[in-house]
Amino acid sequence: SYHLHTQKFGRKIRYQEVVHSTQILAHEWAREGIEEGALVVAEQQEAGRGRLGRKWYSPSHTGVWMSLILRPSILLTDASHLTLLASLGVKQGIERVTGLPIQIKWPNDLLIHGKKICGILTELRGEQDQVHYVIIGIGINVNTPKESWPEEIRRIATSLAIELGGPVHRASLIAAILEELEEVYQQYMNQGFTKIKAQWEKSSGILGKSIVARTAQGTYTGIAEQLTGQGALLLRTDQGLIPIHSADILLKE
Ligand code: BTN
Repeated sequence: SYHLHTQKFGRKIRYQEVVHSTQILAHEWAREGIEEGALVVAEQQEAGRGRLGRKWYSPSHTGVWMSLILRPSILLTDASHLTLLASLGVKQGIERVTGLPIQIKWPNDLLIHGKKICGILTELRGEQDQVHYVIIGIGINVNTPKESWPEEIRRIATSLAIELGGPVHRASLIAAILEELEEVYQQYMNQGFTKIKAQWEKSSGILGKSIVARTAQGTYTGIAEQLTGQGALLLRTDQGLIPIHSADILLKE
């Protein structure tokens, strides 16, 4: 069912048929002072954006394209915690509704059988060393058919409907995700990152695996060992342990 059992998340919703990007509307709304938990949802994005300047395919009525506004009182240096807790909450929401096993690829790609089902884009504004607001952009390929992607995307992406062999009710999925997200967020605000980190490490498919991390500083190959307290990925390489703060990750084998 899509009754929403949250206190704040999704209590205020701006729903629009077509947008450039839900991120843009969410930034506008946040700047106007809208309260935490406000949500922008669209049926279609004409200029959906992904990480690292990439494009995000957002065909009409087939996915969940939404942006959640948060106002945590945390330091800018801790902002990557939000990305990690978002991937955890979204994973739990999708699993609750579909029963499909979801793998988290650091920092925040969600995969099914190695193919991307969901991407999360965290954008924030700060004031001095404090976070002012955060926009968590969530894109989920729900009922997206293969044909809507170009060849190179088909090889790396999938949708819930493709995996299940039938459509998923998007409003129920949104409700479940908002509930799970609010819970991990409250847990983080009350108890800090330690518990989230442990849960993330347990449910990520990446730890213990051989990976290649492409960063702005260079490419590193090694075994993903654990998260640091800041949310960086610790990589065991031939040169020792290297913390990866921002990268594109390739799972080997
Ligand atoms: C990525 O994996 O690169 C992140 C993709 C994030 C896509 C979502 S869809 C809703 C929100 N609006 C956007 O333009 N992007 C995010």
